[in-house]
Amino acid sequence: MSQHHLHDVLVIGSGAAGLTLALTLPEHLSIAVLSKGDLANGSTFWAQGGVAAVLDNMDTVESHVQDTLNAGGGLCREEAVRFTVEHSRESIQWLIDQGVPFTRDEKGFHEDGGFEFHLTREGGHTHRRIIHAADATGAAIFNTLLARSRQRSNIHLLEQHVAVDLITERRLGLEGDRCLGAYVLNRSSGEVDTFAARFVILATGGAAKVYLYTSNSDGACGDGIAMAWRAGCRVGNLEFNQFHPTCLYHPQAKNFLITEALRGEGALLKLPSGERFMPRFDERAELAPRDIVARAIDHEMKRLGIDCVYLDISHKPAEFIREHFPTVYERCLSFGIDITRQAIPVVPAAHYTCGGVVIDSHGRTDVPGLYAIGETSFTGLHGANRLASNSLLECFVYARAAVADILTQLDSVGSPPTLPQWDASQVTDSDEDVIIAHNWDELRRFMWDYVGIVRTNKRLMRAQHRVTLLLAEIDEFYSNYKVSRDLIELRNLALVADLMIRSAMLRRESRGLHYTLDYPEMLPQAQDTILLPPTFCD
Ligand code: FAD
Ligand code: SIN
Repeated sequence: MSQHHLHDVLVIGSGAAGLTLALTLPEHLSIAVLSKGDLANGSTFWAQGGVAAVLDNMDTVESHVQDTLNAGGGLCREEAVRFTVEHSRESIQWLIDQGVPFTRDEKGFHEDGGFEFHLTREGGHTHRRIIHAADATGAAIFNTLLARSRQRSNIHLLEQHVAVDLITERRLGLEGDRCLGAYVLNRSSGEVDTFAARFVILATGGAAKVYLYTSNSDGACGDGIAMAWRAGCRVGNLEFNQFHPTCLYHPQAKNFLITEALRGEGALLKLPSGERFMPRFDERAELAPRDIVARAIDHEMKRLGIDCVYLDISHKPAEFIREHFPTVYERCLSFGIDITRQAIPVVPAAHYTCGGVVIDSHGRTDVPGLYAIGETSFTGLHGANRLASNSLLECFVYARAAVADILTQLDSVGSPPTLPQWDASQVTDSDEDVIIAHNWDELRRFMWDYVGIVRTNKRLMRAQHRVTLLLAEIDEFYSNYKVSRDLIELRNLALVADLMIRSAMLRRESRGLHYTLDYPEMLPQAQDTILLPPTFCD
């Protein structure tokens, strides 16, 4: 029997963005936080390097702003960059107050700045400004915020709940456009429940799973982007998919990232011959922004026909390596690679979705009552290429901004009307799940081959042709069979892939993460790619 739930705030996503928002809201509000798998399902738990913020007194807001703008290839929205960086210190203070165990600087490295935590460095940053918990920063943040959330009786944490679609006044044929809640597959009961809420927050993370090789865990399917698009929201800059330069290359290692902080602390990229190659591509060498490093690795792999390159930190003292990078050390050792003595085989993999649902500085989308925060959103902070460790920061800053906005509306927004139940009367159990598995695989493979690090018009056209066929097939499947997590994700992935391809085709230049052989130059004028959903102008 499907259930009807009513909350003040429905948060779809239990990562850094969703938990921060829930914890920042007042305790008298009833809040549901959904995760489609277990609560640690998203990227947050796996974040390694840390959070970028202006913390050292020798650092400045201006310097962090400039580094972000430089990495962003001329496409960042400067007001979003300033807004985020200016709120960085207070966001970190909030995390410290919650109890996040950031690594302390026992050696007093920043005596002059008086800051007691260790700050590391990553590509594109001209200053040490990454606060971290060794090399498992995401787990430290997630565990702390989750423990805090569990202490709050007004926060209802619901695992294995997969949001299928948003419920809007428009969808119900009512006057207006407000978001009233969501239909959610409860994986324990197999039923689609109805969640009604005064405010709905998409905090669903990115869409890197659209690619065959990714650093992300299985849930990164762009569900929030797809749901927002179907509900009538604009999406922006979806052609900018960030490939992390260094993921572990090993047949048994699924999705394991080798943090950029290794390069920040002196690790070198090498060819199988032992020769360094990054100085040939950029004067910042291993510490150039990610788009440049990933493209250089891709270039060398194709030029030499090799399966991977190598990241070498073995020239540093073994004790330093084990102390700073315990997670990477242990994980590599489990595959027989001792990073204190050997170089690590690495390849680039899809890592971060720079574009997303268009929001304003309060996290508001185009649909009233619906907010988007974290990786699912498009704030303009990242431009054409995200600066390392700016994404967790964006989660905290915009979650807190969205709360401030919700508070101004609490008195004027009442409970939604009774919402209709999900209609499953026309669908049956699927007898052909092989179609879902096949389409998943096909989609991710052609996105990797045709919409990857280096693009061409022809490859994009091929991808568009294939995604159009897939969309029609999936649509038919969706209309006839009961929803499952796999089907929901595939439907969303295919839609987001289509939006990415369309965005890539519209950009007739190479900028940041979008590199095409047909337009290798950058145009003088930087412009966002904003796509309007069919309902936008109604
Ligand atoms: P996530 O943490 O991805 O959480 C998404 C949540 O949404 C999950 O709970 C998921 O279950 C839920 N969800 C999704 N769809 C649905 C649905 N349909 N129904 C219900 N729930 C749903 N960034 C940095 O700044 N610094 C780093 O050091 C860093 N390291 C990284 C390392 C790795 C390996 C990866 C993959 C990313 C890293 N990033 C880093 C990026 C950063 O971790 C993410 O951008 C950030 O954690 C995203 O947080 P989020 O809250 O937006 O989403
Ligand atoms: C890393 O640790 O290399 C990831 C940092 C990031 O994605 O911002």
